[in-house]
Amino acid sequence: MARKLAAGNWKMNGVEADLSEVDALASAVEAATCEVLLCPPATLIAPMAARAGLMDLYVGGQTCHTAQTGAHTGDISARMLADAGASHVILGHSERRADHGESSVDVALQVGAAIEAGLIAIVCVGETEAERDAGVTLQVVAAQVAGSIPTGAKPEQIVVAYEPVWAIGTGRTPTLEQIAEVHDHIRSELAARRGGAAQDIPLLYGGSVKPGNAAEIFAVSNVDGALVGGASLKAADFGGIIAALSAA
Ligand code: PGA
Repeated sequence: MARKLAAGNWKMNGVEADLSEVDALASAVEAATCEVLLCPPATLIAPMAARAGLMDLYVGGQTCHTAQTGAHTGDISARMLADAGASHVILGHSERRADHGESSVDVALQVGAAIEAGLIAIVCVGETEAERDAGVTLQVVAAQVAGSIPTGAKPEQIVVAYEPVWAIGTGRTPTLEQIAEVHDHIRSELAARRGGAAQDIPLLYGGSVKPGNAAEIFAVSNVDGALVGGASLKAADFGGIIAALSAA
């Protein structure tokens, strides 16, 4: 059985004052039976980690370079994230794939760098609306899974997040049947390469997860948690999602 994980992605949102939301999350984290992770912008990793240490909250980054040091102005390495207090890093998010042209080959190298630095890599995959309409969702997602995860990665070093691009920040979600179809397919693709160990890799759903739809999504087969954008910014909303996952 994969461990359950509620992960929040603050994206390019949040300044020091917003860390009060972390304090407001303390009781929800204390009551949780799942793992809870917040990935703030890089500027907030260290101060968030200082607060998170007082509760059972993991802190992560949102991307990392393929190298650990070097002449790469503006980039951040996995080793730096770990040094700042991160335990996880989101890689291959569709916004990175679209805005920065990151391919699955790039993502696989980032995952390797993350693992080298001792981080758990949350590898994001998902189809565009055009790909869903064209009926190639399962092929696209399978190719991203195969291409973005280095073969040497161990189950405890990776998490896979299925995030349909058209569901991110739109308020639209796939049907529960569509989520089940993709998650079952990802599980079987992982099993084909890794055998029984694939059962231990958490599969998160992401895209417009809210307190109101979390419970039904967490009841879907092979959904072990969520990667939450907008609803992770407010402790009340993210707390509701954590409670739904804990009850699932
Ligand atoms: P959303 O974002 O919850 O705001 O749709 C999800 C994500 O991009 O991880």
